[in-house]
Amino acid sequence: MTQHAPSAAPLYLDCDTGVDDSLALAYLLASPEIDLVGVGSVHGNIDAPQGAVNTLDLLALAGRDDVPVAVGAHDPLVGSYDGGVAHIHGANGVGDVTLPPSGRTPAAESAVELLLRLSHEHAGRLRVVAVGPLTNLALALREDPTLVERVLDVTVMGGAALHPGNVSPVAEANIANDPEAAAEVLAADWDVTLVPLDVTMANLLEETDRKTLLEAGTALAPWLGEVLDLYFGFHVPTFGRRCSALHDPLATAIAVGGVRATVAPRVPVVVDATDGPGRGQTLCDLRGLYAGHPDVPGARTRVVLATDSPLAPHLVERLRGL
Ligand code: BDR
Ligand code: CA
Repeated sequence: MTQHAPSAAPLYLDCDTGVDDSLALAYLLASPEIDLVGVGSVHGNIDAPQGAVNTLDLLALAGRDDVPVAVGAHDPLVGSYDGGVAHIHGANGVGDVTLPPSGRTPAAESAVELLLRLSHEHAGRLRVVAVGPLTNLALALREDPTLVERVLDVTVMGGAALHPGNVSPVAEANIANDPEAAAEVLAADWDVTLVPLDVTMANLLEETDRKTLLEAGTALAPWLGEVLDLYFGFHVPTFGRRCSALHDPLATAIAVGGVRATVAPRVPVVVDATDGPGRGQTLCDLRGLYAGHPDVPGARTRVVLATDSPLAPHLVERLRGL
């Protein structure tokens, strides 16, 4: 088990576990820089209860039954859960692989209650990473707007700044699955780092990487290699070969500092929550493009447009030890 440093930052993960969410969770477990103090599930790739089960199973394989897991929102703020994306993440969210059951059940508290409790226990230090739709975070802000004062920072995998969307010409899945929630979270008075498709689609895991995980001879990594099989197939029409975009693990790596953002201006970001063709779009004010992307005074959202190093080697190095 990875020992986190005594100074490790407490971190809450909100996710729709999910194949790439599984990699993100595993990366956090392998990162001594942070202390994973709780995980909330949310609708998205699968339903929220199944996401919690997947999270519990992965934690058990990593020997981390100490991490509380709470079920979050079943539906977005407006409308209802759309049934997930079985053709991408499998009907169970983990590539239709049957993981050894953890034997644990989710916490009695909801994901919102867990997040709020942790924000009091670690006031001023809690870091939040969200790699699914932002419903739980929006509900927590509605429940207690002072949450922004107790959270150190928020990192979100979501959106498309200068890149096409992946569920519409302009919208990325996590934002599109709850644009109203995303609009509230990005309008709140806290520091957010947005990790959009612009950088996640440029970070790929290859078959050689998956083989390394499959052959790691450890408790969790080979299962991650199995879980990736279906997801690798999904990416063939996009990239012309079996591989995988590293959406959620890139957000966690940027939060942890394993990969650094080199171009990440603080700019106003507005989410289109209308019912038109732009629904779910993240409108990032990047008019500073030709001036070296200066920060816009008063803006609280950093939009990551470039990073210093490829994630895959670093990710595999950490995951193969789990
Ligand atoms: C995001 O959508 C989900 O399917 C992935 O887990 C990731 O969080 C990518 O658009
Ligand atoms: Ca996700």
